[in-house]
Order: sequence, then structure tokens, then C-alpha cells
Amino acid sequence: MDQLYSEILALAAEAAQKAGIFIREGRKKGLHVDAKSRIDFVSDKDKQSETLIREMIRKKYPEHLFFGEESIYGDSPEEEKAEINRFTNDDFVWVVDPIDGTVNYIRDYPQYAISIGVVHHREIIVGVIYDPFRDELFTAQKGKGAFRNGLPIHVSDAREAGDAIINTSMPTNSMLTRENMVARIPLVSETFQSMRIWNCAAISLASVACGRSDADYEAGIHLWDMAAGILLVREAGGTVTQLDGSPCALTETDVLATNGHIHEAAVRALNT
Ligand code: IPD
Repeated sequence: MDQLYSEILALAAEAAQKAGIFIREGRKKGLHVDAKSRIDFVSDKDKQSETLIREMIRKKYPEHLFFGEESIYGDSPEEEKAEINRFTNDDFVWVVDPIDGTVNYIRDYPQYAISIGVVHHREIIVGVIYDPFRDELFTAQKGKGAFRNGLPIHVSDAREAGDAIINTSMPTNSMLTRENMVARIPLVSETFQSMRIWNCAAISLASVACGRSDADYEAGIHLWDMAAGILLVREAGGTVTQLDGSPCALTETDVLATNGHIHEAAVRALNT
């Protein structure tokens, strides 16, 4: 299986880079933006990027399943969960966010990325995040470590939450999730050295994997926002759970990723 997984990783990396360059260059020619809600948006480049990636996968692996943000959009949270629960052990599922951080992308704020995770046996076996602004390609294969532009990466060594930087995002799925997230800020900011609100779960998780920051918590997100990032953090030596510290299923919408050392402190700060 190792050989097949590496071939899948190679295709995911190629697709993420192609799509990344496409969105970076395509932006200069103008964007068409639609509102999904008052706080969530989509551009024509999200849809075109997803089509580009989907076609590359279909050509090489026509039998593989595809779970992409723009294809699933419109499903209720329950339908989305049901779809994930239908993945069988034998299915290979490509979980694709064609632009994670769409609002940043629309505003030309340099925190957006292509995120591709692949699930087999209901586990994330490959994760790729490409940041076209910094030309950084993050890759991971289950059991084989995590890499940035081909070089191994590792989570930070911060031992105390007071020395750690934590990332988060302003949720876009509902105002209620947003209010709950904002309510956590006082204790989190008291516990940690500092906080970043980036609204690109993929880059936030990749930054934990490479030690630029020490923790990330995200609420109200989707499998396509986090699949690749979760594997990267784990393969880089970190810990990923739900916000209360319990194991994180594929259907989870809230996630906490840390360098491991400060996980308990982060769980306490998020749940007090
Ligand atoms: C968004 C980002 C952000 C999270 C939002 C997502 P999108 O993804 O991952 O970090 O807070 O909830 O919607 O919509 O730009 O792909």
C-alpha cells in the first residue's frame, strides 16, 4: 500500500501546486464573488480550482471518490455528516478545499491555500497544503513524517502555554459558533503568550506542524478545511483532538491541534 499512497501523495502535490498557481495568477484577471451568507463567500476561482483538481484526480483514479467544498456546498451539516459516514473502508476519498481562506483570497490578504487530504480505511493517509503566496508545499503521508518543500518539519518545543502562540479563526458557519468562539478569547489570551486570527485553517494547522506557532483551534469548520492539516500536525509530532481533548472523528467540526506539550493547558483554557 505504501507505494500506492506515495503515488497518491505525488498527484495531490501536483494538483495543489497547479491549482495554487492558477488561483494566484487568476486573481490578477479579476474575480466574480457570490455570497454564501453574510459572513461566507465564494469566488469563481474557488469553483474553477476545484474543477481543475477534480479532473486531474478523475484522469488517474476514476474509481476514487471526491469530497470537495464547492461540490458539497448547500448540504446541511447533517447531510454532510451522513455523506462522511457513508465512506467505506475500501473507499479512497479525496477531500479537497480548492481555496481555504476564501475571504482572505478575495481581499488579497496573503493567508490562503489549497488543501487536499486523502482518506482510506476511514483514516487520513495523505495531506497536502500549498500556499501559493509563499510558494510553500506542505506534505505528509501516514507514518512517513511531514515535510515543507521536501525538508522534514517538526512541531515546536514550547513546554508552557505562557510561551506559546495559538491560532484560531472567526467562524463563518453561523453567528452562534462565532459568539461561542469569541467568548473563549479572554481565557485563551490570558493563558497563551499571544494569539493569531488567520481564517485559513489549512495554513494555521501547517504553521503548527512546522513550529511557527504552537497551537490552533478551529470551530464550525469542515473536513475539507482540516483533513490535510490534521495529518501534517500528527506526522510532525503534534496532537490533534476535539476541543475537549477527546478523539477527533472525520465528522468533527471543532478541532484543537498543538505541539503536544501544551495540549492539556489548551484544553483547560478552552473549556473552563
Ligand atoms: C474557512 C477557513 C476558516 C474557517 C472558516 C472556513 P473557506 O474556509 O478554513 O479558517 O474559520 O469556517 O469556512 O470557506 O475559506 O474554505
